[in-house]
Amino acid sequence: MISARAVRFSYGKPLLVDVDLEVASGELLGIIGPNGAGKSTLARLLLGLVAPQSGRVTVDDRDLHTLPARARARLVAAVLQDEPLEFPFTALEVVLMGRRARLGAFGFERPDDLAAAERAMRDTGVFDLADRPLSELSGGERKRVLLARALAQDTPVLILDEPAAALDIRHQLDLFALLDARRKGGAAVAVVVHDLNLAATFCTRLALLSAGAPAVVGSVAEVLTEARLRSVFGVEVAVGSHPVTGARVLFPLRGVE
Ligand SMILES: Nc1ncnc2c1ncn2[C@@H]1O[C@H](COP(=O)(O)OP(=O)(O)OP(=O)(O)O)[C@@H](O)[C@H]1O
Ligand SMILES: [Mg+2]
Repeated sequence: MISARAVRFSYGKPLLVDVDLEVASGELLGIIGPNGAGKSTLARLLLGLVAPQSGRVTVDDRDLHTLPARARARLVAAVLQDEPLEFPFTALEVVLMGRRARLGAFGFERPDDLAAAERAMRDTGVFDLADRPLSELSGGERKRVLLARALAQDTPVLILDEPAAALDIRHQLDLFALLDARRKGGAAVAVVVHDLNLAATFCTRLALLSAGAPAVVGSVAEVLTEARLRSVFGVEVAVGSHPVTGARVLFPLRGVE
């Protein structure tokens, strides 16, 4: 499990203040909040890419940002929001990079590395793109290759920053079904997501961030209330229920006569 304890981080003015959350094995935590709320900053902290200015981020009680990169890559895998994507590599080569921390002494892939890459590429629907250069893929295709890389890494913790943003509705649903399967398989998963209905459908808990204010962490029903969406996002939303499943669904009221 991954945990953030009393984490503070600011770029000059306070951004994350006393963030306390944990993502246990079997959980899919949705990280939501307005643009600039600190979601990507929190994702980088949870990946150990930056150190908190105070507090701790630990995986199984080990401070993440002090671990050697190879050890960290066996624990946490990432899809970042803004990754430079102009590598001169094919999709398969990029996915195999997810296996780098596991490769043998000479850095050669073994059959299980290729099998893991193939499985991840089939799961994300990019197997047919294996030999294509990443630079020639569409935005959504690239995102799914990066998702395949993170899945192939086969870590107990997955942190994804807006992985759904470039995806069409089917691939968004496929993505969340994959994350759901990973958490049910015992992974601890945290995902930054702007689509609150996707978050409400698939996440086991939510963390709602707003810049410089304490995060609100709780169940979907606790976090996604009309009053909170009004105060944090400044929008009027009616909270209703899914006609088939009864799950919570948000209906924005702007544009409604
Ligand atoms: N390297 C940096 N230096 C200074 N300020 C930064 C830096 N990175 C981010 N910020 C600021 O910190 C705040 C939070 O940024 P962050 O990227 O974490 O937001 P976010 O919640 O992910 O937003 P979005 O929904 O737009 O992705 C923003 O106001 C941003 O301008
Ligand atoms: Mg962001």
